[in-house]
Amino acid sequence: MQHSDTTLTGDRPTGKLHLGHFLGSIQNRIALQNHEGKHFYMIADVQALTDNADNPEKVRSNVIEVALDNLACGVDPEKTIFFIQSEVPEIAELTIFFMNLATVAELAQNPTIKTEMAQKGFVMSHDDADFDEVKKAATEAQLKVQNVSAGFLCYPVSQASDILTFKAGIVPVGEDQVPVLEQTNAIAKKFNALYGSVFSEVKAVLSETTRLSGIDGKAKMSKSLNNAIFLSDSPEDIEKKVMQMYTDPNHLKVSDPGKVEGNVVFQYLDIFDEDTAKVAELKADYEKGGLGDVVIKQRLIAVLNDVLGPIREKREALARDPKRIMEILKAGTEKARAEAQKTMSEVKRALKIDYFE
Ligand code: TRP
Repeated sequence: MQHSDTTLTGDRPTGKLHLGHFLGSIQNRIALQNHEGKHFYMIADVQALTDNADNPEKVRSNVIEVALDNLACGVDPEKTIFFIQSEVPEIAELTIFFMNLATVAELAQNPTIKTEMAQKGFVMSHDDADFDEVKKAATEAQLKVQNVSAGFLCYPVSQASDILTFKAGIVPVGEDQVPVLEQTNAIAKKFNALYGSVFSEVKAVLSETTRLSGIDGKAKMSKSLNNAIFLSDSPEDIEKKVMQMYTDPNHLKVSDPGKVEGNVVFQYLDIFDEDTAKVAELKADYEKGGLGDVVIKQRLIAVLNDVLGPIREKREALARDPKRIMEILKAGTEKARAEAQKTMSEVKRALKIDYFE
């Protein structure tokens, strides 16, 4: 199967986006939108509700926030179609038919689902043996362990529909989403085998940067772990967060030799500081001893402000006119819906449910 040059990605509107999103997906969106083909950016409110069913207000209010984050970084509505998932009901319709093509076992064993279930304190059943495991894995805030909803368990099916409704061939995502894309390809293959060839293969595009650590040194930057630097953070927030950053716990005195490996400040400098020669020099000095944490932190604060300053300014300017943002989303959603309707009529024909055509 050949993949199309249409691209599609999305964010769950559950909070403002951070540097991890910037490196993991936003930068890829910006690069890809200049290539040939159609480009879709979806605000995945339906997916966000799968684990926020009790908090629709949170999802609603973050729709505009994630739109602002993407626009401010340079995802361009002239090149990329911005749309809201729930406003394209064809996606939900296709999900229903795709449900028949994924097994409960596939979903329950999907590595993305399993990891997210452990993080969110979801179990298959309170009677299951994995209950104690999850309790151990969950952080304090997630200790209200609950049975997973069918909606959450099935979100990979709904995501397959997000992608295949638009016949997207290229999907820029974080590494953690790869098993979800494998599920997408499995569904597409099964659909084609049963009903005739409608869908093509989907390819994940991963970012070049390895996963960005949180400021606390934990492997992943995440809002729920409270270790994120947000794209909308003020210079004061950035300063405070960098000053708290995990370095080398044994580097007590300036004169002590320090460790670069595992040191979050150097991880960030490697990614964001364009003066690689200077960073190499700082690393050598740090390892030798005689270079204090404050010096490297001050440098990182300046570097991050160079990256985030223009984004923050653009974001603030855009945020002054929320009506215009909603117009962008509405216009994009209309275009997306027209595409979705084309696919749905093909799907209905293939499924032999095109009764009144
Ligand atoms: N699951 C993705 C995330 O949590 C968001 C998403 C929803 C998505 N639908 C998508 C990403 C379709 C790519 C393609 O980040």
